[in-house]
Amino acid sequence: MTETSENLSATRKAYDRVAVEYTEIVRDEFDGLPLDRAVLAAFAECIQTGDPGLVVDLGCGPGRVTALLGDLGLEVFGVDLSPVMIEIAREAYPGLRFEVGSMDALDLPDGAVRGVVSWYSVIHAPPRAVASYFAEFRRVTALEGHLLVAFFESEGDPVAKYDTRVVPAYRWPIDELAELARGNGFIEIGRMLREPRAGERYRRGHLLMRRQA
Ligand SMILES: C[S@@+](CC[C@H](N)C(=O)[O-])C[C@H]1O[C@@H](n2cnc3c(N)ncnc32)[C@H](O)[C@@H]1O
Repeated sequence: MTETSENLSATRKAYDRVAVEYTEIVRDEFDGLPLDRAVLAAFAECIQTGDPGLVVDLGCGPGRVTALLGDLGLEVFGVDLSPVMIEIAREAYPGLRFEVGSMDALDLPDGAVRGVVSWYSVIHAPPRAVASYFAEFRRVTALEGHLLVAFFESEGDPVAKYDTRVVPAYRWPIDELAELARGNGFIEIGRMLREPRAGERYRRGHLLMRRQA
């Protein structure tokens, strides 16, 4: 087994195990997070001002971000590694499409989508694999399409592994993650850093990017 396949298998099992509990925890989370909602709205506006087309929410979990983007008017579907997460998402949002899959090897043709969202999902990839994840995002994104990545920021430290209650994750310096995306065909439009609110660990990072030629 390679490092990546071991990581995917551990992540899938861990999220299958906690899917119901995780869904409960995040159910109303966006209500108190105006900046997070603003970033998602900015992404939706970028998509809507370009050519029409599909958006994919990678690592969609229980589908709350997929649903929010759908409510903002996007034609969006979700993909997640965890079959239990996908079952929950399908049940909660029967009007939306959800598929089991891994964001490092998507069952999508080149240039199939106008936008990719990874909302706290690349955080679980081994750091050495993240460049190849961005390469896959680039492959499936049409020219001038958009990418939105949300993650835990490392607050001055180098890339740092930390334990979550589910499976280990990595905090990234925002410049380093932006540079990796840039090296794989995306140019930065903007970024948003948000301090943790009560009960949260770590500063939150968001990168909004556009696919270049
Ligand atoms: C922290 S949760 C975030 C879920 C969702 N984006 C949200 O904010 O509610 C991380 C999700 O990413 C998924 N994930 C992790 N690695 C993945 C991969 N390689 N491909 C697809 N999904 C993945 C996990 O199964 C899990 O559902």
